[in-house]
Amino acid sequence: MAYKHASVMLKEVIEYLAPKPGGYYIDCTLGGGGYTKELAKKISPEGKILAIDLDEMAVENFRILNADLRFNNVIISQGNFKNLLEIVKKYFRDFTEFDGIIFDLGLSSAQLEDRSRGFSFNLADAPLRMNFGEPINETAENIINSWGAKDLAKIFKDYGEEKFAHKIASAIAAKRQLKRITAGGQLVKIITDALPIRLLSAKIHPATKIFQALRITVNQELENLRSVLPQAIGLLKPGGKLAVVSYHSLEDRIVKRYFKQESRDCLCPPSYPICQCGHRAKLKVLTAKIIKPSSREILNNPRARSAKLRVAEKL
Ligand SMILES: C[S@@+](CC[C@H](N)C(=O)[O-])C[C@H]1O[C@@H](n2cnc3c(N)ncnc32)[C@H](O)[C@@H]1O
Repeated sequence: MAYKHASVMLKEVIEYLAPKPGGYYIDCTLGGGGYTKELAKKISPEGKILAIDLDEMAVENFRILNADLRFNNVIISQGNFKNLLEIVKKYFRDFTEFDGIIFDLGLSSAQLEDRSRGFSFNLADAPLRMNFGEPINETAENIINSWGAKDLAKIFKDYGEEKFAHKIASAIAAKRQLKRITAGGQLVKIITDALPIRLLSAKIHPATKIFQALRITVNQELENLRSVLPQAIGLLKPGGKLAVVSYHSLEDRIVKRYFKQESRDCLCPPSYPICQCGHRAKLKVLTAKIIKPSSREILNNPRARSAKLRVAEKL
């Protein structure tokens, strides 16, 4: 299958990272390689870029692409960015510091359209896996068929911000007694049957929030993001840039709060007369106003519509 993905806010990301010949970068979410290619061109010939993806399909695709492009400064690594320090240690000496680290979160169009993953609610017979890559510790099918209704409702609410979380979770719990839920189409039908009719004609597909909640749970997306941000700061050189493109408010909130916290000198409660925590700012936020794709980009690539870019500089 051809790997399809249109990079989001490529121009903006590259402008903020401002790569120069000889620069060292990490692309933590290689995907179709849009950012990596652009960085590789700009840092040639002495610079290096470490490109990571959990998905073997993305890694293989870029290996093939790179055989044509002949970038000799790209190190491609299959792995989870939550293990960023470990991955970096495999390829670089301990004291290597980077000029920039980029995350473009979520999934690629190629993954969304890959029937075997079951990410899309438009593929009725697709299996409910929803993994970004190996190792596979959890699947959406297992969650749907074995978690209690209360736990299901919690993830639908917390990760999908779904108003009808309890209703949908109860409907799933009832239906799976009759037949195991194994395909996307089955789940979509249960969701749409549980929702009030007026919501079924909304612009956004009625199963969107439930599929998002399952995907986030299966891949532990929020935990991965929380654990990698401090590792990324530690790997940057002073003046190095950390850029994150996120696609839903849960991810963006984590990045926003972390940037805010790490750009402050003291985290003590305001009632403390003098600082007791000793916390020192490590970042300067460069995107006081959040960066969003242009309307032209959204017109050409509607999947970009929810993207938000935040960038900070290491002090
Ligand atoms: C939106 S795509 C990246 C697209 C890329 N920036 C481009 O221009 O083509 C997100 C990628 O991140 C990968 N990914 C998501 N979570 C990951 C994780 N924890 N570790 C490594 N890769 C991850 C997905 O497999 C997917 O390929």
